[in-house]
Amino acid sequence: MNILITGGAGFIGSHVVRRFVKNYPDYQIYNLDALTYAGNLENLRDIEQHPNYTFLKGDVIDEPFLNQIFEKHQFDGVIHLAAESHVDRSITDPLAFVRTNIIGTVNLLNVSRDLWKENKDNKRFYHISTDEVYGSLGTDGLFTENTPYDPNSPYSASKASSDHFVRAYGETYGLPYVITNCSNNYGPNHFPEKLIPLFINNIIENKPLPVYGDGKYTRDWLFVKDHAAAIDLVFHKGKNQETYNIGGFNEWQNIELVKLLCKIMDKKLDRQEGTSEKLITYVKDRPGHDLRYAIDASKINKELGWKPSVTFEQGLELTIDWYLENQEWLDHVTSGDYQEYYDKMYK
Ligand code: NAD
Ligand code: DAU
Repeated sequence: MNILITGGAGFIGSHVVRRFVKNYPDYQIYNLDALTYAGNLENLRDIEQHPNYTFLKGDVIDEPFLNQIFEKHQFDGVIHLAAESHVDRSITDPLAFVRTNIIGTVNLLNVSRDLWKENKDNKRFYHISTDEVYGSLGTDGLFTENTPYDPNSPYSASKASSDHFVRAYGETYGLPYVITNCSNNYGPNHFPEKLIPLFINNIIENKPLPVYGDGKYTRDWLFVKDHAAAIDLVFHKGKNQETYNIGGFNEWQNIELVKLLCKIMDKKLDRQEGTSEKLITYVKDRPGHDLRYAIDASKINKELGWKPSVTFEQGLELTIDWYLENQEWLDHVTSGDYQEYYDKMYK
């Protein structure tokens, strides 16, 4: 099989690429990535020389480029992760999200549809999406695969739109597809613009921890390698034209999560307990901030036997250890444009 993974130099994509390259030596894995600020080939140094791995630098917006690589490599499967992924950036630059997340996805759908027109056997377009498309929950309830879409941010609106296009290509052209909607991931290689890696980096640097609003927003957290395992399972065993929700069965209010993070970091950094908590600073809320996300992942659990393999405490320790051992990675990604972004957002 020739598999195209898009966005493979990013956070989740790099874990998916590594897993496929290592677990499936008979597959040829092609990683298409534009290497935006979020894409980093350092994430894949350990596997870049593997004979079944090829990196293709390119943009999903670039239709002629997509035509050319689909023609050349005759992909059997596409696992589409490339996206603009940060809610805060979508508030300042929504069009970037329209371009990559909507137009980029439709470009990929077109080339896949055309390539597989004559023979759809064992072909699959796998679209990686988010629980944010369902909008915001109140204090109870869970998102199921049947929850109506109700996106609130430009990011989630662009992801919802791309999900609809994927389903529409399934209905209209018979494109074999599968979609998964996952909750918040955390783990190694997470870009330090998102809550957990941003706060780990700020604690290391003794900088304020900017908690939005009252900090009582709730997210369901999943360790990134468990997401990669779910993607592997759905790609191989999921049913065509179906959606699966993926989640960690692991809800945390932001402020409680931040306090736990501070406690573990104090221990790891040999600081007196309570030192990092003093860095917590309540700041202006994110506009349109969704109160709560929580996933009912019983379908993927019952039908495919997937469940998370690590507890949150284990995953968080693994994550913190990774950041402490990979200071060079952090230094590289926080140099250059990152400072400009940080100052614009937080100063
Ligand atoms: P990320 O921002 O870390 O990585 C995105 C990758 O896509 C980067 O390598 C970037 O260079 C690449 N990319 C961006 N625009 C591109 C373009 N126009 N052409 C080609 N490549 C491009 O994102 P992530 O957190 O790893 O998320 C990956 C996918 O998973 C996204 O589709 C996101 O919506 C979805 N998702 C993320 C989470 C999460 O918690 N991070 C949860 C659920 C779903
Ligand atoms: O739910 C899945 C989604 O999770 C993915 O689709 C997105 O790609 C991913 O970025 C993530 O979105 P969130 O907006 O939930 O993640 P983020 O890490 O940006 O924020 C998590 C929570 O922490 C949210 O309630 C906002 C809050 N927050 C975030 C930042 C960056 C803060 O309080 N302060 C911050 O500085």
